[in-house]
Amino acid sequence: MSANQSPTGRPQSKTYDSAFMKACRREAVPHTPVWFMRQAGRSLPEYLKVREGVPMLESCMRPELVKEITLQPVRRHKVDAAIYFSDIVVPLKAIGVDLDIKPGVGPVVAEPIRTRADLDRLRDLTPDDVWYVREAIGMLVEELGETPLIGFAGAPFTLASYLVEGGPSRNHENTKAMMYGDPQLWADLVDRLADITGAFLKVQIEAGASAVQLFDSWVGALAPADYVRSVLPASAKVFDAVAPYDVPRIHFGVGTGELLGLMGEAGADVVGVDWRVPLDEAARRVGPGKALQGNLDPAVLFAGPQAVQAKTDEVLAAAKDLEGHVFNLGHGVLPSMDPDALSRLVEYVHTRTAR
Ligand code: CP3
Repeated sequence: MSANQSPTGRPQSKTYDSAFMKACRREAVPHTPVWFMRQAGRSLPEYLKVREGVPMLESCMRPELVKEITLQPVRRHKVDAAIYFSDIVVPLKAIGVDLDIKPGVGPVVAEPIRTRADLDRLRDLTPDDVWYVREAIGMLVEELGETPLIGFAGAPFTLASYLVEGGPSRNHENTKAMMYGDPQLWADLVDRLADITGAFLKVQIEAGASAVQLFDSWVGALAPADYVRSVLPASAKVFDAVAPYDVPRIHFGVGTGELLGLMGEAGADVVGVDWRVPLDEAARRVGPGKALQGNLDPAVLFAGPQAVQAKTDEVLAAAKDLEGHVFNLGHGVLPSMDPDALSRLVEYVHTRTAR
């Protein structure tokens, strides 16, 4: 543990009594906590200004810059949690995978992983590989005080998809070809990624992150039986690796309506829901003992304040009997969103749910 911080998931921690941490633990809250996936960066002019001329991956490796970008949405929108500014491919870059993040495209991998020999190139991650993460989080938790910092990582399936396809993919055909055609190679790949991801999340928690989110953004491409066979064991290994820290573990993917129960079973304390399944129905699918996070359709933010309020009321109504609710969008903030609409949304949820 870092010297300046109690173990993050325990009552001694400064962030323990925040609305966000309470909602994750399914305790009573003063108001429904709000944060937004991809809140750091994207639509903020102050982000575009500090990022000027700095490539995305390089910006993730400069602790001062990471600190500033992570704090920007907290200052501006008064969200209840910060999310660490980075990207899901940073730990892969850190272990020497030749990749880049291309603006408007996403992560692109120079030599995709398709064979056993390719897999052998993926080594384990050590804390020193990501020294800049430890340093940035150390500074951030000092500044954030009682506001929790969410650490995150990409889940094995979503990381494997980028590595096997070589970049973003609509159909994940090479990924599925390996999963169905060479199940042993696939199992070994996601198992290796689980170790890397678990190690990466541990670094963030030990540096002071109060919660972690595992993004399995593209896993909605799978049927439940294939999820159980080919993905769940690796995701569960990641959650098990961080279980001893007692920090809330959030799990999110897009188009995962049929997988919500299984994603909870993988070991999440909080299941993230996109906008396709109402939260009361999501709660039935997930079952008792878990909080939910979500789930306003991000596109609603383009529709004007009245529509935003009406759709937010719908989300809050569906959430009223949940054991724990963290308000979020059903996926990330879009680059063209009006930052003021996001600030108004935070205030609206806080006001509507004040107890
Ligand atoms: O949530 C936050 O604000 C923290 C920062 C964050 C980024 N990426 C910064 C980023 C987080 C949590 C991510 C996670 C991430 N990255 C995911 C999972 C979340 C999701 O959206 O489902 C995925 C799938 C990626 C991979 C990735 N990286 C994509 C698809 C893109 C967008 C490409 C584009 O330009 O449209 C990136 C690049 C990226 N990651 C940007 C940011 C701010 C934009 C790059 C830039 O500003 O130059």
